[in-house]
Amino acid sequence: MATPLYETVAELDQRYVLPVYRRQPIVFVRGAGARLYDDQGNAYLDFLAGIAVCSVGHCHPHLVQRICEQAGTLMHTSNFFLTEPQARLAQRLCALSGMEKAFFCNSGAEACELGIKIARKFANAVKKTPDYEILTLEGSFHGRTMGALSATMQAKYQEPFKPLLPGFRALPRNDLHALRDAFSERTAAILLEPIQGEGGIHPIHDEYLQEARHLCDRYNALLIVDEVQAGFGRTGKWFAYQHAGVLPDVVAVAKGLGGGFPVGACLMRGVATEVLQAGEHGTTYGGNPLACSAALAVIEIIEQENLLENAACVGAYLQGRLRALQSHGAPICEVRGRGLMVGVELTHPVARTVFQKALARRLILNAVSDTVLRIVPPLVITQSDVDESIEVLAAVFQEVSV
Ligand SMILES: Cc1ncc(COP(=O)(O)O)c(C=O)c1O
Repeated sequence: MATPLYETVAELDQRYVLPVYRRQPIVFVRGAGARLYDDQGNAYLDFLAGIAVCSVGHCHPHLVQRICEQAGTLMHTSNFFLTEPQARLAQRLCALSGMEKAFFCNSGAEACELGIKIARKFANAVKKTPDYEILTLEGSFHGRTMGALSATMQAKYQEPFKPLLPGFRALPRNDLHALRDAFSERTAAILLEPIQGEGGIHPIHDEYLQEARHLCDRYNALLIVDEVQAGFGRTGKWFAYQHAGVLPDVVAVAKGLGGGFPVGACLMRGVATEVLQAGEHGTTYGGNPLACSAALAVIEIIEQENLLENAACVGAYLQGRLRALQSHGAPICEVRGRGLMVGVELTHPVARTVFQKALARRLILNAVSDTVLRIVPPLVITQSDVDESIEVLAAVFQEVSV
């Protein structure tokens, strides 16, 4: 039975909100840890975390406290002035990532957009040829602004918005021969996700990242790693490229960085820090004290609660339990990913049905395609949360098995 609140919200949404999202008929009113609560008081186990955003769980008390304190002190000044949270966050992010400078923005697309702008200006200054290339991977996702979209090699996102920005070239993922063949003096940069998220949770092999680093050094090109979804602890390290032991030139971060507060960052080192001059890039809200205090609190929580280790351990446990379901006849052909970024490839196209049926049992997952389920829970989940989710999935898989 729909509540009056649900009726009101659904009607207002339908009438006034641009219908670019496929909504579920649920109004959430509260969150705590790995749980979301609807308007009827039902608790849902949230294994989507606002699409890999709520890294420290919903409404973590320390994050809430830091946001409230900062909101009552100073929210915004513009980037004409210095503020302590921005300077301190830049220092922390550089130390965690191995980068040297940070630029703050508000979303993942904006972080990638700056990576692309740096590559383009670098190419104009260094390559001095108008037909330089930025390499990207098939199945990638970097955001929906026109630059990031042009690097997003999936027809369903690109087609309606052509013509796109020129100069991008897509390579098949994890194909070392194609990678070596593609690099030349014209290559300005390669932009890639260490684990493709929206494309279906496809990990990029460590050797591929290492070879990309090697080729960038050889051809004087920039290695730009999009850590928007895989970054900030989700894979068991602060950044997923750290598993491969490579250091990028530019790193895009967002999502988990703010734990639910909108904040993004483009981090860089070496020559990439020298490309842009004062006035050549900027954004009004980027790095405001409120967003930066939130991100600092997220870092503190991840450190204090050992969430990198938790992501690695509970993620391995989750993958193990999913593989056990597979060997007991669930319609799964592959479980892949790292830490708490997990994809489940199904044997037939029932991912959306599984999502709906799990939701009806109050487990929130996501179907990135007809055949792939995405599981990106908060990094605070426990083994018992995993057990609960597996119980739901086992029942759902029984229903959809053919
Ligand atoms: C890898 C990656 N890059 C960029 C983006 C775009 O981020 P945003 O939606 O914050 O613009 C996303 C969003 O899903 C992403 O997964």
